[in-house]
Amino acid sequence: MIKIAFYNLKGGVGKTTTAVNMAYMAAAAKKNVILWDLDPQAAASWFCQQEPDSAKAIKLFSKGKSIGEMELYSPYPRLMLIPADLSLRSLDSEFDELSKDKKFLKQLLKPLGEKADILIFDCPPTLSPSVEQLLLEVDILLIPMIPSPLSIRAMEQVVEFLNGKKSAPTRIVGFFNQVDMRRSLHREAVENSKKMPVPMLKTYIPNDSAVEQMGLRRAPLTSYNQRSRAALAYIDMWKEIARLLKAAAKDDE
Ligand SMILES: Nc1ncnc2c1ncn2[C@@H]1O[C@H](COP(=O)(O)OP(=O)(O)OP(=O)(O)O)[C@@H](O)[C@H]1O
Ligand SMILES: [Mg+2]
Repeated sequence: MIKIAFYNLKGGVGKTTTAVNMAYMAAAAKKNVILWDLDPQAAASWFCQQEPDSAKAIKLFSKGKSIGEMELYSPYPRLMLIPADLSLRSLDSEFDELSKDKKFLKQLLKPLGEKADILIFDCPPTLSPSVEQLLLEVDILLIPMIPSPLSIRAMEQVVEFLNGKKSAPTRIVGFFNQVDMRRSLHREAVENSKKMPVPMLKTYIPNDSAVEQMGLRRAPLTSYNQRSRAALAYIDMWKEIARLLKAAAKDDE
């Protein structure tokens, strides 16, 4: 099972919308996918039409309970959601105790390998101890950025933080989201993407109101619209990510 996190310290850059669309595309490409919503805002769960349970999400982190035994659903074939709710607010205090056991997270995730080919985490926009531990478990870290100095700076902070850590993800890849090529700042950022401190996906997601409408439809854009500019970009992005997954799987052999 290949583990992917969509993460940037900066909020509102497209972690959730991209994670949900990539999870849907991966499942449509016949992969068994688990999408794990780790953000108490529960936006990924919302897009998968999951109603929040007040206190369930945190229980998965209790010692002794196996996630392997949980029934996981979503409205889509092969896509399984581990939903979030507000109880995840206390994830760090829970982790404080649990992460004294260094293998805790590895063991927690292990049973999921029997259910899924790909595990995708939608992370909250914090660099809390639990997020830190989690980032050190993933194979691929995808960092969305709006082409603005602040969200690029946040990516740099993440990369600096992971630099030199022994189990940092082997593949750390950025991509631009909400791109408006009429704006010179955005155009320049995309044109200079080779100079970024991380390798960048060639595909960027344009600024497109179709993405905002996902919140009303409560579904991945690519599940009901394959023609909007953003949907076409998601389709291209999935092709690139599928190549990354293949390369990561080869490393795993
Ligand atoms: N390509 C896009 N075009 C237009 N709007 C977008 C695009 N991508 C994301 N958005 C909008 O921007 C907002 C933030 O997106 P999203 O929730 O994916 O970001 P996030 O990084 O997960 O945020 P948070 O840090 O709060 O979890 C949402 O309202 C979403 O609809
Ligand atoms: Mg989010």
